[in-house]
Order: sequence, then structure tokens, then C-alpha cells
Amino acid sequence: MRAGYRRLVDARRSSSCCVRLTMMIRRLVILGATGDLTRRSLLPAVGLLLADRWLPVDFRVTAAGRRDWDDRAYFEWFMAGSQSADLPAAARQALREAVVYRAADPTDALQLRDVVAPNEEPAVVYLALPPAVFGPAITAMKVAGLPTGSHIVVEKPFGSDLASARELNELLHELLPEESVYRIDHFLHKQTVQNILGLRFANRVFEPLWSRDHIEGVEIVWDETLGLEGRAGYYDRTGALLDMIQNHLLQLLALVAMERPRSLSPRHLRDRKVEILRTIRRHDPAEVTRQTARARYTAGMIAGSAIPNYVDEPGVDPSRDTETYAEAEFSIDDPRWEGIPFRLRTGKALARPRREILVRFRDVHEAVFEEAHSASANALRLTLDPDTITFTLNINGAGDPFDLETIDLNARLAAQEIPAYGRLLLGVLDGDPTFSIRDDEAEEAWRVIEPIAAGWRDGLTPLGEYVAGTAGPRAGSSTSSQAEP
Ligand code: BG6
Repeated sequence: MRAGYRRLVDARRSSSCCVRLTMMIRRLVILGATGDLTRRSLLPAVGLLLADRWLPVDFRVTAAGRRDWDDRAYFEWFMAGSQSADLPAAARQALREAVVYRAADPTDALQLRDVVAPNEEPAVVYLALPPAVFGPAITAMKVAGLPTGSHIVVEKPFGSDLASARELNELLHELLPEESVYRIDHFLHKQTVQNILGLRFANRVFEPLWSRDHIEGVEIVWDETLGLEGRAGYYDRTGALLDMIQNHLLQLLALVAMERPRSLSPRHLRDRKVEILRTIRRHDPAEVTRQTARARYTAGMIAGSAIPNYVDEPGVDPSRDTETYAEAEFSIDDPRWEGIPFRLRTGKALARPRREILVRFRDVHEAVFEEAHSASANALRLTLDPDTITFTLNINGAGDPFDLETIDLNARLAAQEIPAYGRLLLGVLDGDPTFSIRDDEAEEAWRVIEPIAAGWRDGLTPLGEYVAGTAGPRAGSSTSSQAEP
């Protein structure tokens, strides 16, 4: 546990918790507060943190959006969202008391000043804005000025290519030093993702085997049953590759493949991640065609509900050819992983959720058992939601000692106490950047993804189709869902 997080846990356990949270920033300003992210993820997380006493009693949230609402109208809008219904009453009440709404244009320096710097108290300013507004909002903030000690949080996607990510980094550095900038990837705050570190570096058994000598492939899969969910405004301009693979899934790859960090300090951990991102080979055009796949869903049924054709969803422009499914195989130019495929895949409106990291080990060298060919190779599977760790191994079959049987050792992890967005906010408020994305990491991720995005724009990989509620376009490929509906 990082010192900061431990301090928060200890403080919360003690009866005088809120008195001891002295170093924490006590003001959160959300720009883009009338957007989906705020309603779905940010406010519920703040509500839970407040109700569970993770935050000081005087913690305040300024929710800023362009709509001309008052606090009451804002709260009603929040309560109309499906996520608020799942919140405990104490969390809803805490939000009612802590949140004020301000109508403001985030690109207008004068209006912004009233919101971000009404006094000299430091704030965490969260840009929950459409990506196109990041630049103008940061420029306006430079003019408005931020109180000393403030932090800024930038959601993904960070830029739209390498050049724009660099520009955004430069703009941010004109506003604040790098240590006050938090580029967000909420996957890094999921406990099973953090468990990659525990499993790899706190167990003697895995690290000696963690290389091409013993591992034959890694699959990182994030299949969702959810469709567009009214997010066309964002998603139709983004697509599965940039929504998921460019950030979340590449981060998982980095944690799986990186070298051992000297410590879990923000610098050591992020140095290791960026080193491995740098060694991922960029696809040439032929590899884009051979090693990537993309598709979008057509009308189908999921769990008894009809899902419309993606292109018929309100707000979708069919001519954009946006993919709702993306798959890519990556190679790492590094002695540990030479020749080992890392397959990343994600899709929406698929038959069943499958969110996991699967490390497939090689077969045993010399089979002592005649039937070894029919045994499964060892595999380590980290599954998210529900969080489980499964290790597949072979044992003597029951009855006949010359038979082999494949079994799964399964551990179901306790439910995550604070949701990922809650952990992320605690990190930012407490000044702990360990699980946020550093400037160089954000740029390296674009270096890796850019050739694929460009190849897709140039039609190197045809846009396939799959029926919503099925296993996806490549049911036979190794990363496809295991079971057909
Ligand atoms: C978001 C993507 O970042 O992550 C969504 O924009 C995706 O499209 C989501 O559904 C998945 O994360 P989680 O935590 O909601 O499972």
C-alpha cells in the first residue's frame, strides 16, 4: 500500500479521521459536469467516498456545465441517471450537501475564473469534457489562473494522435508542472489490475517463468454486452481502438510485460511502463492487414432485449465507419518477449462479458505421461468483474495414475471496497500520481497505435460486421469469446 493510501485508510479507521486528512485537497471542480462521465462515474464515486468518510467533512464539489441550471435542477438530472439509483441514501444525501452547480463555459477565461479560483484555495480541476474541448479549456485556465497547489485531471482519449498528444502535453506544462497533471486511466485503479503487480512481484513462483522461454502468448480481452448506451456523441468519433486499446488495454499490457520496478514509487513504476511501451513494435501496413481486425455490430438480441443496428443509433454517422470491435496483435522487441504475441481485443454488444488477462504457458518439454498431448497447458487467468484469479494445471486423474486431468485453482477476490473512480479521485486529491499516466507514457501509447489507426483510415483492414449478442466477428480466433451464445 502506498504511504498516502495507507494514511487515508488509517485516518478513516480512526474516529478523528477528518481532522487528520490535512494534506488532502478539499475542493473538486468538475468541468463537463452535465456529461455522461460525471453522472455515471464521478459523482457516484464522490458520494460513496463522502458517505464512507474517505473525504474531509468540509469537502466541496463545484459542478460546472454550460446548461443554465440551478443546484436543484442539477441534482434532479443526476438523480434521473441509472447509477444514482444504486447509491446508498447516505451517499445521495452527502452529494446533495457537498455539490453546487455553476453554469459556465469552460473555454471562457472570465467565467472559468469564478469557478476554479473563487479564492486562493487549491482545487482539483477535473476535465470531464469532450476531447476537442481539452485544449481550449486549458488555454482559458492559463488566463484565469489556478490557485497554487491545484491539480488538473485530464480524461482519455489524451489527444487524437501523437502530434496532438504532444501539443496537449506542452499546453498542460505551461499551466502546471508535470507532477500536478493527472492523466486518467481508471483501469489502473481496478484491484485486479493492481494485482498484476502483487502476483508478479510478491511471489517467487511466477517471475522466473515470466518470459518467452515459458510463456507462449498473452491475451487481454475486454468484451462487453453494453452497446452504445446513448454515447454516440463521444463514441462515434472514437471507436473501439481509441476508446479501449490505445489506453486501457495497452496499460494492462505494460503491467504484464514490464521489467521489475525498483519500487512502487510513481517514478519507478512509470519508468518501467514507458520502457516497455517503447519496445512495442509499430505495425507496418502489411502487419496492419494481417494482425488487426475491426467490425461493428448490426441489430441483434442481448439477454432478451433488442439491440438496434449500430448505424441506426441516434447520433451515429455511418460514413465514419466507426468500429465497435477491435483486435490487434502486438510484438515486443525485447529479449524477454521476442516472438511472443500479445493479443488485445475489445468489443461492444457481444454475447457475454469477458474481461480478463490470460497468460498461456508453454507445454512441458518432455512428456512423461503418454497422454500429455491431450492435457491443457498451464494458464494464469486474471478475470475482472467478478475479480478472480485462476491457475490451470494438470494432475493425475482420479482412479488411473497414468491419466491426466486438468483442474482450475480458483480464488475469488473480495469485492473492491472503493470503485475505481473513487480510488482515482483519492489519488489525485492526495497528490499520489502512481496510477496516473505520465506525459511520456501518453505519447508512447500513440506511437504504438498511430499506424493501426492510419491503416484503418486507409482501408487496410476491412470493416467487418457481427450480429449484436453473438461472439463477435472472429469467433474462431484465439481471443474470441469461448462460448457461443
Ligand atoms: C471506458 C470506455 O473508458 O471504459 C467505455 O469509454 C467502456 O466504452 C468502459 O465501457 C469500461 O470500463 P468499466 O470500468 O466501465 O468496465
